[in-house]
Amino acid sequence: MGDTGKNTTTKTIHTLTLHASRRRFLAWIGAGLTALAIPRPLWSVENPGSAYSETIAVLTKLYHGEVESHRRYKAYEKQALKEGHSNIAHLFAATADSEAIHAKRFNEILTKLGAPPETGSASHFKVGSTKENLKYATDVELAEIDTHYPEYLARIRNEKHSKAIKYITYSWKAEQQHRELISDIRSGTGFFFGMLAERFRTTKVRYFVCQNCGSTLTAMPKEKCPVCTFPISWYKEIPLPTL
Ligand SMILES: [Fe+2]
Ligand SMILES: [Fe+2]
Repeated sequence: MGDTGKNTTTKTIHTLTLHASRRRFLAWIGAGLTALAIPRPLWSVENPGSAYSETIAVLTKLYHGEVESHRRYKAYEKQALKEGHSNIAHLFAATADSEAIHAKRFNEILTKLGAPPETGSASHFKVGSTKENLKYATDVELAEIDTHYPEYLARIRNEKHSKAIKYITYSWKAEQQHRELISDIRSGTGFFFGMLAERFRTTKVRYFVCQNCGSTLTAMPKEKCPVCTFPISWYKEIPLPTL
């Protein structure tokens, strides 16, 4: 091979090397730009929990609270039946059903966020007489919902998880309905508990619970759920419980 041939080969090798390094450089720049261009929500899908840590913490706390409330109301229902207060047992059966729906919805959202709650935790609550249970439900369990729920909603506001915000608000509204229903029964059962509880036994009340949001009513709504606006077909009538 002459000098001219050698020079041409060297030139070609040099050009190829240059092309290869330019390609690597462009690929590197391209990867960087692509990463910058990926919007935050897409990253959240890959690692759904990362952008919603407060939402997850609040939902987890609320989930366990709902499970506990469900179990407590079921225990109160049983106690009321034992004492022969079937209408009061009926109310507790309806509130228990509603709490189970809240727990289910929170569980669904947490699971989608990649943080399913632990299930099967132990319960710690006391079951007293029906008169005491009504008092506990209104004075303790439902007393501070108008303080607690706004706090929870404020904590998660910046993370903007619309479904969590929506379903926590639904749960709050249903708890307000529970407080009203339980207070109504309790207000008539103060000093003359036995006598008035007997009157409630003979007054037929019906309970309907929205299976989407847990709204608890004593009559079917006309067009749609007043809390979540789902069609009324989502309402289930809670049967009168028996021992
Ligand atoms: Fe609830
Ligand atoms: Fe609803």
